[in-house]
Amino acid sequence: MTTAPAERKSTNSWWQSPYDRWLVAQDVPVFTGYYVEDLRTIELGWWDLRGCPGAVLNLVGHQGVTEAHLLQVPPGETIPPFRMATEEIVYVVEGQGIATVWAEGHPQINFEWQKHSLFRIPSNYYYQLSNARGDQPALTLHVSYLPLAMGIQPREEFFFNNSFVDPTELYGSEGNPFSSEAYAVRETVDRGGEKHETHQWHANFFPDLNVWDKLTAYGSKNRRAFGAGITFPNSAIRTGMMVLPPQRYRAAHRHGPGVTIVGVAPGSGFAVMYPEGGEKIVCPWTEASVFVPPNNWFHQHLNPGGTQNRQLRVFPPKALMGYDGGLNKEIPFYEEDPWVREQFEAALAEQGLPSLMPPQIYEDPDYVWDDPEMRDKD
Ligand SMILES: [Fe+2]
Repeated sequence: MTTAPAERKSTNSWWQSPYDRWLVAQDVPVFTGYYVEDLRTIELGWWDLRGCPGAVLNLVGHQGVTEAHLLQVPPGETIPPFRMATEEIVYVVEGQGIATVWAEGHPQINFEWQKHSLFRIPSNYYYQLSNARGDQPALTLHVSYLPLAMGIQPREEFFFNNSFVDPTELYGSEGNPFSSEAYAVRETVDRGGEKHETHQWHANFFPDLNVWDKLTAYGSKNRRAFGAGITFPNSAIRTGMMVLPPQRYRAAHRHGPGVTIVGVAPGSGFAVMYPEGGEKIVCPWTEASVFVPPNNWFHQHLNPGGTQNRQLRVFPPKALMGYDGGLNKEIPFYEEDPWVREQFEAALAEQGLPSLMPPQIYEDPDYVWDDPEMRDKD
């Protein structure tokens, strides 16, 4: 006599996260790796859940915290209404159209979007996107905390069929919440014992990030960039834009996972990412590029082009950025691997442009880069 112990098969692998399992079941193209060079040319596939062609970016640096996905609204069409329990930040990569947003049982709110618009869809609000052009598709990039949220609540129903909604988010005041003017708020924040002056713009809708000119010079002597902090009312997601002046770059720094960085301006450049002591990965950089620095990897943004380089950044929850745990670290230019400067200068030379980095910054720890162009432009 032999006994054959019953074998139970489960699709619920202990190793896969609930988000990973959900993603496999979506049967939509998924992009992994470190970066996407151009969202406008990646392969899309029919996505049943959304009723349109789409693709998901589950890059190494997203690390089960955040995700990004691309939807295509075909010419002249409207994609089906959709709602999700985690809010979404939406950036328009290509095209123009109309968004209709509403809470169940409440009036619809419409607004127009165009290439380079940025807006937020609150949790469980229905929304529908329509392409206003009949001759070309529109592409929208959506960023959310879905992987992290599914990690503590794996029920799909909770995320895609959830009637809880807070009507005050969009119906709390007079007028169209997507057409009110952005207002600025100044704040001093403590980042691991270091005080930082910040400047945030508050609104539900930013019509065109490529022409947004309310920028603030920010950071230490190693962060020669302009910033535009963006705060969506009631949102858990911090967002911001960084504008790198031409022919310069930022020093290497590191932090937690899940910062989705999207190219806004047509300029060209590259990002370098590497774990401490490890191999460097070069991510080519232009409009509609995306890269996500992996957890604790050093990375730097280089702009060897003759025009500004604008990058939208959508951050993970603050607790994961590592601001308070000593993870945050910057490598000053005088300590960086000379390879970085060589790559930067070679890229400049190809375009016949000079570097606008002062040579002293590579040698003198006490050098103060006083640059009138980088003073506050409020
Ligand atoms: Fe960063």
